[in-house]
Amino acid sequence: MRVVILGSGRGSNAEAILLAKQAGKLGRAEIVQIFSDQPEAGILALGPRFGVPADYLDPAPYKTKLDGAAEEHYIAAILACQADLIVLAGFMRVIKPRFLETFSGKIINLHPSLLPSFAGLDGIGQAWRRGVKIAGCTVHYVTQEVDGGPIIDQAVVRIEAGDTLESFTAKMHAAEHVLLPAVIEELSKRF
Ligand code: GAR
Repeated sequence: MRVVILGSGRGSNAEAILLAKQAGKLGRAEIVQIFSDQPEAGILALGPRFGVPADYLDPAPYKTKLDGAAEEHYIAAILACQADLIVLAGFMRVIKPRFLETFSGKIINLHPSLLPSFAGLDGIGQAWRRGVKIAGCTVHYVTQEVDGGPIIDQAVVRIEAGDTLESFTAKMHAAEHVLLPAVIEELSKRF
């Protein structure tokens, strides 16, 4: 199963996936490419470290979506990878219909909340401010409804007395780093 990872940020989830692969825990999944829409993103530094191609793809002129010529550019680059699975690991752009149709059923997203609660930006902050005691993260298929596609799996994170936003955030990331590689391993069993 050929996997392409898209990310915009520090890449801790991409790192967790690559570490799982190194440890022989990613089943039949092969990480063939990392792409980022941010030229300075930490996720790009994982490429040389793990021996995986990692490239910036210009998303201009849009700020929050992938559309027009930039969308075509991304589609062509991912088609060239012959990707079986596209993993959005902190990719902070809305995916539009042409991209979705091209890779129908092959795109999964990690979201830092127990969907359908706290969709959209800053799922961790939303849960924290709402004062929930049970939070968590979700991996789901990407559809036109933002954060609304079929849920593949979730992990629970409890907010305990004494937690701060910082400690809660750390627990959330730790849960994500287990959940996302486990989902990829599970999906790879179909290959
Ligand atoms: C993760 O917490 C992920 O759930 C979130 O971005 C972070 C990326 O961290 N994704 C979203 O909010 C998507 N709407 P990372 O770059 O360290 O993997």
